[in-house]
Amino acid sequence: MRKIIIDTDTGSDDAVAIMMCLRDPSVEVVALTTVSGNVPVEQATLNCLMSAEIAVGAENVPPAYVGADRPLMRDRVHARNVHGDDGMSDCGLIHPSVSPQEGIHACDAIIEYVRKYPDEIELAVIGPVTNVALAMMKEPDVMKHVKCIWTMGTTGLHGRGNTTPVSEFNVYADPEAYRIMMDFGVHVYVGGYDLCTSEAAWFDEDTERLLASGKEAAAYAVRCNEKLAQFCLGIGGERRIDLPDAVSLAPMLWEDVIVSSSPCVSHVCTEHNETYGQVIFYDGGILAGMGPGFDGDYYGKSKPNCTVITQVDNGMYKQRLEKLLTE
Ligand code: RIB
Ligand code: CA
Repeated sequence: MRKIIIDTDTGSDDAVAIMMCLRDPSVEVVALTTVSGNVPVEQATLNCLMSAEIAVGAENVPPAYVGADRPLMRDRVHARNVHGDDGMSDCGLIHPSVSPQEGIHACDAIIEYVRKYPDEIELAVIGPVTNVALAMMKEPDVMKHVKCIWTMGTTGLHGRGNTTPVSEFNVYADPEAYRIMMDFGVHVYVGGYDLCTSEAAWFDEDTERLLASGKEAAAYAVRCNEKLAQFCLGIGGERRIDLPDAVSLAPMLWEDVIVSSSPCVSHVCTEHNETYGQVIFYDGGILAGMGPGFDGDYYGKSKPNCTVITQVDNGMYKQRLEKLLTE
C-alpha cells in the first residue's frame, strides 16, 4: 500500500483534497502535517483535523503534526479574502474532537516517517512548502529517500498567477522554500493552478448534486467552499469552486486521470522584484537560444527535476471525487 504524508495549509480546497485522499483505498495517509498559508498554522490544524474527522471518523484520523508558523525568510502571507477568516467559509463547521500530536514539529515528523519507511513515503504538498524545505535542510541524507513529491503549486507550464501576475500562492507564500524543494533532487510532480481553472471546477449543478446526496462529507465539502465560490464569482463573474489542491492530487491517486504531462527543469525566482515567486519551466523544446533537449545547462540543471501535469481528464476526476464524497 502506498504511504502518503499530506502537508497542508488547510483552507477549503485543501479540505476536499484531504477527504479525497483519506477515502481513496489506493493509498494510506500515514500522517498529516500543517503549515501556515491560507490561514495561520493553528487554524489550518483545526481545519485539517475537522476535515479528516468528517472523512473517516475521529477514530481513524491519522496522526497530525503542527508545522511552521511562518515562511523561511519572508513575512507571513494568508488568503482570508479567498477562503474566509477561518479558511472554511466562517460558517461554524470547525470543531474537531481530535488533537494534533504534541512535542514534535511537522518537519521532524516528516523526517522520522521517511527514516522509518525509506523510499516509500510520497509527500503530497498542498500549501507552502516550508515544512518540506526545513526537513530537507535538517536531514538531507534522510530526505533523499523520499520516494517522490506531489505538489499543488506554480502557475503550471503556461498559466498565469493567482497572487501576482506570474506567481501562484503556495510558491509566493514561501519562494525560498519552494526553490529548496524543487532543487533538492527528489522528483516532483507539479499540479499548477492552471489545472483547476477549467472544467475541473465545481459549478452549481455539481454542488446541487452533492447536497442532494444527503451525505455529511459532501455537504461539508460544499459548505466550507462557499466563500471560495463567492470569491470566484467576484473575479470571474460566475459561481464556481476552483479546487486546485484536489485536482492536483488526483494524478497521485489515479494515473489514468493524466491526459498529458511534461518532464521539465524548473527555476524558482527568489529575487525581490516582479518575478518573486515565479516558477519558470523549461520543457526541452527548441527555442531561439536553447534546446532541443536538456543537453544544455539550464540554471545548473541538465536533466528534468520535475514533471508538470499539463492536463487531466476533468470528467473522470470529478466523477471519482464525487463518488468518494457521497459513499
Ligand atoms: O494557489 C492555490 C493554493 O494556495 C491552494 O493550495 C490553496 O489552498 C492555497 O494554499
Ligand atoms: Ca492549500
